[in-house]
Amino acid sequence: MRFHVLTIFPGMFDSPFAEGVVHRGIDAGLIELHVHDIRDYTHDRHRSTDDYTFGGGPGMLMKPEPLFEGVESIRAKHDTPENAPVILLTPQGERLKQPLVEKFAGEDDLILICGRYEGFDERVRENLATHEISIGDYVLNGGEAAAIVLVEAVARLVPGVVGSDESTRNDSFTTGVLQHPQYTRPADFRGMTVPKVLLSGDHARIEQWRRRASLRRTLQRRPDLLEDAELSREDREFLDSLKEEGHQ
Ligand code: ADE
Repeated sequence: MRFHVLTIFPGMFDSPFAEGVVHRGIDAGLIELHVHDIRDYTHDRHRSTDDYTFGGGPGMLMKPEPLFEGVESIRAKHDTPENAPVILLTPQGERLKQPLVEKFAGEDDLILICGRYEGFDERVRENLATHEISIGDYVLNGGEAAAIVLVEAVARLVPGVVGSDESTRNDSFTTGVLQHPQYTRPADFRGMTVPKVLLSGDHARIEQWRRRASLRRTLQRRPDLLEDAELSREDREFLDSLKEEGHQ
């Protein structure tokens, strides 16, 4: 899978992917990350990527020409399919959630455009981007940190990037509910002990404890997720009993 990033700060992508899971994926040839400097697609002496807003007002906007040219150059150079997603990172976009991450992971190429300044010329939104994505309801200085988040979330779903399939299959959100609490050794750390059932070796009881702990945690922290989660009759009965007790 190939990620193509357009940014005025290409150096921001060096250290996040210099180590860790995505780096290994790149080394193994499972992922490619191509970072392109938007200024390379400017033609004026100052290599400007921003300009004033028609009609007046404070702040500058990303100019359309270098972004259109940048995307066209990526398409030509890397022979990307005409329908490869072109994603604008912007706080005005659709909130990034795991189902959309999974959809992006099914693509061969993603083109990401990082904004700066007050935003984009509207023609970029209407005629170049296929998606506008926000990573949350807060404002960053630009789209770079958001693009890094998107690349990491998508890259870890590319087969082979994360060690065993199991570890992405059980992720919170992928299963529709939050992950249950987990423990490693020692069983007693400064008097803080691991729930006995987990040391029992009784796999059926352990599974039931885990499922219930997941459901309890989801009800407490993210009850909204339960609306779309796949729940068995037993799950629903357990959740009803928790609600009766008042969320214990
Ligand atoms: N650019 C600035 N803020 C952002 C956000 N929250 N998500 C995506 N891109 C952004």
